[in-house]
Amino acid sequence: MGRKSTKGKEKKKKRKEENAKYEASLAKVEAANKIPDPLDLVPPFKKFERNGLNVRLECKKVTNMEKELVDWAFQLTKANMQTLYEESDWGWKDKDKYSEMTEEKAQYLVAVDVVTSKPVAFTHFRFDMELDEEVVYCYEIQLEEDCRRKGLGKFLMQILELLAYKTEMTKVMLTTFKNNKVSQDFFKKTMKYEVDEISPEDPLFDDAYHYEILSKAIKPKPKPSAAESVTAANHQLVTAS
Ligand SMILES: CC(C)(COP(=O)(O)OP(=O)(O)OC[C@H]1O[C@@H](n2cnc3c(N)ncnc32)[C@H](O)[C@@H]1OP(=O)(O)O)[C@@H](O)C(=O)NCCC(=O)NCCS
Repeated sequence: MGRKSTKGKEKKKKRKEENAKYEASLAKVEAANKIPDPLDLVPPFKKFERNGLNVRLECKKVTNMEKELVDWAFQLTKANMQTLYEESDWGWKDKDKYSEMTEEKAQYLVAVDVVTSKPVAFTHFRFDMELDEEVVYCYEIQLEEDCRRKGLGKFLMQILELLAYKTEMTKVMLTTFKNNKVSQDFFKKTMKYEVDEISPEDPLFDDAYHYEILSKAIKPKPKPSAAESVTAANHQLVTAS
């Protein structure tokens, strides 16, 4: 009996701790979603001028985007991805993709050509909860063909990773088709993403999954040790006096 009640107390305590952790994670996601322009967290990343490209970066919530820009992002995604979707068992439906791309939480990082003022690349991302973790989920990264292989894709992903770091998200996640060789090479070899623990494992006696979930852990800022905090406090006292 005694043991049972101790166990019960422990369980309750654990549940309380888990709830508190979940609430703290959710609060981080909510705070991140309230940032008016996340690019203000990383000012040097507002332009990219390399390999013949000269673009500025803009970050917008989908709710503040002009329809023309949303339609361009949709058409580019369709041009790049429709065949891959159709080769998988997901299939492609304009209406479903368009509504996913315009859900309220969607945010867009858009690269705009400085000379022509035309958008040339984007990533659709969200600050969100994935199970019980606070993450940046990259829903889409799409470049116009003539802007590829110039480092812009890497630059966009680096921005997402930095935003995740600044907003204290635990990782950047994304879903990719296994038969998208370019994307597989780009994410796994160049960007060092790994198959996430929640990616479904292929069944032994059935068709393999056509997609996988990749992620990259974002290391939190190390908390200063007690000794470092005391030194910093002493330093402040000395400089203030
Ligand atoms: C995948 C994509 C975003 C990559 O963007 P990008 O700007 O072309 O990539 P980068 O120039 O930053 O490439 C960085 C590195 O990734 C690898 N890589 C990129 N494209 C590659 C390709 N076509 N083949 C092989 N490796 C490739 C290379 O190692 C490259 O470095 P290198 O050019 O010095 O060899 C872009 O090709 C794209 O928009 N593709 C169509 C849409 C798509 O498939 N999106 C991903 C959906 S999950």
